[in-house]
Amino acid sequence: MQTLILAAGQGTRMRPLTEQRPKPMLPVAGQPLVAHTATAAIDAGASRLVLVVGYEAEAVRSFFGSEFKDVPVDYAVQDQQRGTADAVRAGATKLDNKPFAVLNGDNLYDGESLAKLFDRGPSVGSYQVASPSAYGVLDIEDRQVTSVIEKPDTPPSNVINTGAYVFPAAAQGWLDVDSSERGELEVTDVLNRACEETAVTAVPLNRWLDVGRPWELLEANEWKLEECRRQINGEVHADAELRGPVIVESGATVDAGVVIEGPARLQAGATVGPNAYVRGATLLGPETTVGHSVEVKNSVLMEGATVGHLSYVGDSILGRDVNFGAGTTVANLRHDEAPITCPVKGELVSTGRRKFGVVCGDAVKTGINTSLNAGVVLPGGATTAPNETILKSAANRR
Ligand code: UTP
Repeated sequence: MQTLILAAGQGTRMRPLTEQRPKPMLPVAGQPLVAHTATAAIDAGASRLVLVVGYEAEAVRSFFGSEFKDVPVDYAVQDQQRGTADAVRAGATKLDNKPFAVLNGDNLYDGESLAKLFDRGPSVGSYQVASPSAYGVLDIEDRQVTSVIEKPDTPPSNVINTGAYVFPAAAQGWLDVDSSERGELEVTDVLNRACEETAVTAVPLNRWLDVGRPWELLEANEWKLEECRRQINGEVHADAELRGPVIVESGATVDAGVVIEGPARLQAGATVGPNAYVRGATLLGPETTVGHSVEVKNSVLMEGATVGHLSYVGDSILGRDVNFGAGTTVANLRHDEAPITCPVKGELVSTGRRKFGVVCGDAVKTGINTSLNAGVVLPGGATTAPNETILKSAANRR
């Protein structure tokens, strides 16, 4: 099955993490998010991948090159990010005149479910949720989809669209859709046309995650780190204790007195300790440092991030080259235990999580003894003074 993977978007809801990189290249368990999408597609039988790139395209191209896991990779450029139907239109220039699959390059799928999707095309991957109104909801009769309705007040079902489709070859002629209410060209309108022209089967997916906002990046890491198996190739001091599924890549170092509770992955060049505690689903990216008396729980530290001394980092995402001064402490729980809110495009949104810490864009630097409240987002390059307490996100704090 020739498979288009959409990876051209600007990822505005994921800022500041996407200020310097496309969302599909954000790290998930040691690989870019879109590498997991591509792997699921290949596991399901993708014969060729066409990656639609646009925003920060070079990052995607240089990761995949011309082949991924023995499957040829081609690229199509979407010059302006006008929406997913426009991205498919760009990608279709590289397709053979045969049925084709489309996947969102910022979604996690399981390969087994995608294999069923590929077998039963024309098809759409479906997923049951408790509150469907925030999604595209599928209207289904006898397993056939009759339409998809965006964010309906009264949903026709609790089954939603997962952005995974198999279209017939003829759909390559159905890609010029009208602009939607939110001013985008949407692939869901191509799906609606497909439902009018032919039978489209809803194929339930076992597991699925749309990674659109920062806390969903933590969920993605939780999923994919859970699947990792213990593998110790780096240097681990005899007085360190590694519990459960911990990966220490070659070139990573664990010093004396460290306890790491898996699932966790330490990438090449990561150093931990002495006397540090790493737990929960934690990804320590390449060249990261977790120093003396630092606790890191359920967090993602991107390349070069440093938490040098006497700090606590919980349920947080630290961008590339972030540096936390000694004594920086992150809050990740409210006293009333209500879900933590976090700003997304200037509006506070519930993360749905009881535990959520902070999001730091690339190269944020905190002064010593900085306190960061739960849900705070610091833009790339922001600094704090010694002893500063940040209770709320400031949009333009530099
Ligand atoms: P999203 O709407 O979730 O991604 O699109 P986005 O546009 O990057 O993010 P926001 O809304 O600004 O936060 C789903 C998938 O479609 C791709 C995205 O890269 C993502 O993988 N996409 C989206 C395109 O390729 N082109 C587009 O014009 C829009």
